[in-house]
Amino acid sequence: MGPGDAGDPAVNDVDVIRVHGQARLAGTVHVVGAKNSALKLMAAALLAPGRSVITNVPRITDIAIMGEVLRRLGCGVRFTADDPVDPMVAHGGVERSRSVVIDVPECPGAEADYDLVRRLRASICVLGPLLARRGYVRVAHPGGDAIGSRGLDMHIAGLARMGAEISGEHGFVIAEAPHGLHGAEIVLDFPSVGATENLVMAAVLARGTTTIDNAAREPEIVDICTMLNRMGARIEGAGSSTLHIVGVPALHPVRHATVGDRIVAGTWAFAAAMTRGDVTVTGVEPAFLEVALDKLVSAGGLVETRGNAFRVRMDDRPAAVDVVTLPFPGFATDLLPMAIGLAAVSAGASLITENIFDGRFMFANEMMRLGADIRTDGHHALVCGRDRLSGAPVRATDIRAGAGLIIAGLCADGITEVSHVHHVDRGYPDFVADLRALGVTVERGTVPEEPALEI
Ligand code: EPU
Repeated sequence: MGPGDAGDPAVNDVDVIRVHGQARLAGTVHVVGAKNSALKLMAAALLAPGRSVITNVPRITDIAIMGEVLRRLGCGVRFTADDPVDPMVAHGGVERSRSVVIDVPECPGAEADYDLVRRLRASICVLGPLLARRGYVRVAHPGGDAIGSRGLDMHIAGLARMGAEISGEHGFVIAEAPHGLHGAEIVLDFPSVGATENLVMAAVLARGTTTIDNAAREPEIVDICTMLNRMGARIEGAGSSTLHIVGVPALHPVRHATVGDRIVAGTWAFAAAMTRGDVTVTGVEPAFLEVALDKLVSAGGLVETRGNAFRVRMDDRPAAVDVVTLPFPGFATDLLPMAIGLAAVSAGASLITENIFDGRFMFANEMMRLGADIRTDGHHALVCGRDRLSGAPVRATDIRAGAGLIIAGLCADGITEVSHVHHVDRGYPDFVADLRALGVTVERGTVPEEPALEI
């Protein structure tokens, strides 16, 4: 387990989800706000003193940790009932989303310690806003995690171009700009989501104009830019590769609704296809998943889109399709475990190529325990589809691998027990209830962690 993970529970029990195989998913599932947007929107609130409210925030562990990060920076953070969702899609009264009320002081703290950054790698996104507000910030270096090494060089180089002095000391990144940041022309080596977000949050309060070329184009980037513009920022080009940001002296607090979670929506889309089911997903713009949904059509699925919803139906065994992950609008790396799961039960061989994280295939060994035929070589995996997988105990190594193993278990003979599902809780609000609502027989429980052997 790496420093980006939420951490195993202190007790010697681990959480498990047991799914009964040969399932067929059918019904409607509603997707709430995106984890990877809400976390950054909460950080963006730091840019304006006063009360900001972010709605449609998913009820997941990572959001609770981000709340704690903000509290330790001196903010008041309260989670309240969310705006009501359409009763047609509410699940038996279970709240999947919350609103978060953030009271930001005039002078927030400037340090995020290792304990918090270890539990939530995304807490590095306070770097940009705190540097902009305070002129000084000290954040523990997040290191890598279970999907591979995850650098900070583009965050650091971009902030340096804006006039920050950056140093490293005792595992911390320290950024200083005592006379404030200034606008700069920045070209990213790669359209990094995190670097784009940190640099935008720094640039909105900098003196002069910042241009970010080769910026990330993910819907979550558009979401944060929309919120910042509503706070008084002047950002143009969100959703394109070039962002122009004219710095302003101050921002004001805002109320903002988080964009729907395309990765959770994509997980259900793949689960529907793999189980030859029929699932309608509401709460997310289907265009965010265009490439993924096209893959399901190539695999033989029927996909209908309407407004903020789509339906995936698969009547026969899926046909093998090749998948290449790329920054948005390409196929999302966070859906890679689902693409491998689909390939594992499809007719034929699929070549799956991962271009974003070097360790993303680490979970393939767990998928092989279910009988999947996977050979990996560098950033490629050749997957030969099998008629049926075979239920087994497996271990979740990160959020998406965990979700991928659970939905692969739905296609297996017998029972699949996925352990360490606290990873899944980091990204999927009440996954078990959604599975049940779609017709799956599933239980959640705990099993004892294997004791360490003495020598
Ligand atoms: N990279 C560098 N240097 C940098 C920044 C990034 O080398 O300065 C590399 C990374 O090591 C990685 C690649 O660039 O190999 C992409 O990193 P990026 O910065 O785009 O990703 P991130 O911001 O760390 C976010 C999501 C991930 C998602 C990726 C890609 C959050 C909290 N995380 O990570 O989500 O996979 O973008 O879309 O927004 C997840 O939700 O399970 C998850 C891992």
